[in-house]
Amino acid sequence: MENQEMKHEEVFKMPVIGDIAPDFTAVTTTGTIKFHDFAKDKWVVLFSHPADFTPVCTTEMSGFALRKDEFDALNTELMGLSIDSIHSHLAWVSNVKEKTGVYFDFPIIADIDMKVSKLYGMLQPNESETAAVRAVFFIDPNKKIRLIMYYPLNVGRNMDEILRALNALQTADKYKVAMPLDWKPGEKVIVPPPKTLAEMKARNEDTSVERIDFYLAKKSI
Ligand code: BEZ
Repeated sequence: MENQEMKHEEVFKMPVIGDIAPDFTAVTTTGTIKFHDFAKDKWVVLFSHPADFTPVCTTEMSGFALRKDEFDALNTELMGLSIDSIHSHLAWVSNVKEKTGVYFDFPIIADIDMKVSKLYGMLQPNESETAAVRAVFFIDPNKKIRLIMYYPLNVGRNMDEILRALNALQTADKYKVAMPLDWKPGEKVIVPPPKTLAEMKARNEDTSVERIDFYLAKKSI
């Protein structure tokens, strides 16, 4: 147990929601990138996969590539990562393009020294000591981490949910609202609950919202 705790301390540093995304400079498939200079005034979805030339990872990377126009529409850049060499990345990108026609048109970090994986808690020793888990970091234009997903090695992510969560974060910011269970674009959103008696009275009299009770009200946007 003690050994396991020490192992975690050595390699496992997990950023949390609200942190400024740790900066780094890394070799990627589109050249060397300093993260905080990447995608100025845009959102970034930074995600890791365990290894090149593996089946689940190939489906996931293809999923990001095939829906890149939807990320573009949400003012969002993609950046992938795995603990592989740049040569492996280039060969894998070429192979998938040749075999399936899908092109990974975004930078993929070659994190061969595990520097970025460790910074972002992507290396989780109970899963693997050498391969990153399937992490997704949603980072806003102020470089703040807004949402984090971690999936194990043997379960692929859900692209609908990644896009839904990104859209929900942006919509919540824009309208200063919160998003209910399973929210999708076009559906009603949650109006923040009142914080004072005066606000509660106003809420009770407001006919423009669908009011279930003073603390639970929805509206269309
Ligand atoms: C895969 O992408 O298929 C995979 C990668 C690492 C471990 C297990 C599965």
